[in-house]
Amino acid sequence: MMADRSVPAVEAIWDPTRPEFRADPYPFYDALRSHDPVSSTGPDTWVLTRYRDVAETLRSPLFSRDVEASAKPSNDPVAQRRRQRRSGSAKTILNLDPPDHTRLRRLVTKAFTPSAIERLRPRIQSMVDIALDTAQQRETLELIEDLAFPVPFQVISELLDMPTDRADEMRSWSQVLTASLEPDVDLETFDRTDAVLAEMIPYLWEIIEQRRNAPGDDLLSALIAVEEQGDRLDAAEMIAFVLLLYVAGHETTVNLIGNGMLALLEHPDQIELWRSRPDLDERAVDELLRYDGPVQHTVRIPLEPIDYEHLDGRIVTVEPGDTVLTVLGAANHDPAVFDDPHRLDLLRPNSHRHLAFASGIHYCLGASLARLEASIALGSLIRRFGTIELLSEPTWRDRLTIRGVDRMDLRVEPL
Ligand code: HEM
Repeated sequence: MMADRSVPAVEAIWDPTRPEFRADPYPFYDALRSHDPVSSTGPDTWVLTRYRDVAETLRSPLFSRDVEASAKPSNDPVAQRRRQRRSGSAKTILNLDPPDHTRLRRLVTKAFTPSAIERLRPRIQSMVDIALDTAQQRETLELIEDLAFPVPFQVISELLDMPTDRADEMRSWSQVLTASLEPDVDLETFDRTDAVLAEMIPYLWEIIEQRRNAPGDDLLSALIAVEEQGDRLDAAEMIAFVLLLYVAGHETTVNLIGNGMLALLEHPDQIELWRSRPDLDERAVDELLRYDGPVQHTVRIPLEPIDYEHLDGRIVTVEPGDTVLTVLGAANHDPAVFDDPHRLDLLRPNSHRHLAFASGIHYCLGASLARLEASIALGSLIRRFGTIELLSEPTWRDRLTIRGVDRMDLRVEPL
């Protein structure tokens, strides 16, 4: 990845269906940012690649995250189907605007404060140590299966006190669910998603009912019990929220650990540096998030006409109801903010300004948890093993919205 940074021709750069684009989107982002940073990619659809535009859009109250309520009606059957599905079910916190978003976010924020998450440190460390003990005995590690997936999955399951006996099913379910987030989604994908939801919802429903009757000391019980200023989560909101947490737990942190390890292997000097400086744990993770984050883009719908300045000073006006794709991965490689952006530099002074967790009111609720999991997993891995080598070329999931390595076989030898 990222070896050849030759810039593609300007025309039709935004084409996430192209295998080269999915394999390494960064040169394409560069080309767009430097030639057409406010790019019209179809009827009523825009792609933003400059840091400034992406950050301002995400932080602005003049945009909606509720696509179904705010986007212009479309004749596209995929858009119509998406709208139909969303209107039939409760929205997650991610798809809501204020004031509903504010209410839900207030109810769930407490469980995710940095201090609440920090209490999980010893448990996460012990899970990681067990995985690394096994790797040490075998002298091999399939990073995703043996570490990057099981740790976040176990953590979110324990946080919610969910049974882990259907782990494989839950995993394939969430993979189907996230497929519907891709830009080139088709109707068959929606059929598969609906089939998965038909299995998953009654399963979650059953667990929520059990917990209602016998509350425990877990996040799910806390959500059921929560009552603040007369507010509470109703059953449909609860299911939507638990689904979102599961998907986030499975599909994002796993890719931070996977993509992060690959980036480190491509920059062995940075592994050495991190190994010699355990104080870098947090900073290192921010740089890995900036360098190749798991979530590549997200969407906003303007509620009013919005002006963006193009390269030549020309003003481009985006209309209410248009779809604006904010490309987080492109913003994170904008040379106007990050010097020499394609270099992995764990000492970079402003890595923390990355937008990998977005920004504004929808800033990732699980950011502290993801950071902690990744810093323990990767920090422990590089401190335990002096030799970490790829046994074969890693394979990537053929996805762009959530981008990640899906298999990475490593040979490991202790220091
Ligand atoms: C490296 C891992 C992760 C990345 C890169 C990531 C990224 C993101 C991004 C970009 C958003 C905002 C999307 C938007 O504004 O449209 C978001 C929101 C969210 N994330 Fe994460 N996430 C990660 C891990 C997690 C984890 C582990 C959890 C929970 C256990 C989580 C829970 C959430 C929730 C609930 C929201 C919605 C917040 C809101 O709308 O107010 N995320 N995440």
